Amino acid sequence: MRILFLNGPNLNLLGQREPDVYGRVTLAEIETKVRERARELKMSIEFRQSNVEGELVGWIQQAKGRFDVIVLNAAAYTHTSVALRDAIAAVGVPTIEIHLSNVYAREEFRHKSLIAPVCRGQIAGFGADSYVLALEAALNVNAR
Ligand code: DQA
Repeated sequence: MRILFLNGPNLNLLGQREPDVYGRVTLAEIETKVRERARELKMSIEFRQSNVEGELVGWIQQAKGRFDVIVLNAAAYTHTSVALRDAIAAVGVPTIEIHLSNVYAREEFRHKSLIAPVCRGQIAGFGADSYVLALEAALNVNAR
């Protein structure tokens, strides 16, 4: 199975960004952790980050036929982006929404996800483990 991990804006700053919310782990360290688990599960992964909404849209579009599942931490675009939602719906690659923090325990504007209705499910609040849990969930997510 081929899994595409996409990370949205400001996640390149993990490790130094609001450590009380997101912890001290960097995105590179999360990638290493996910790679180790992927090797055990015999899954292949690709890991990308962009601060640019259109670049994320492009990567979602290109995933069709190349990846079996997308794992998406859309970061702030979760709460604002009709473009990401439409891309997920258009492409039809099963997508799992993830967040490091428990967005429902935070500000009200984070309680609304525009992408949730077009995702297979959501994992939030487990820090770096949200990524590993998504990888394990991806094992049983079949294309419709
Ligand atoms: C986040 C939660 C979002 O609300 C926020 O904008 C982020 C990170 C998370 O992983 O907890 O940038 O997606």
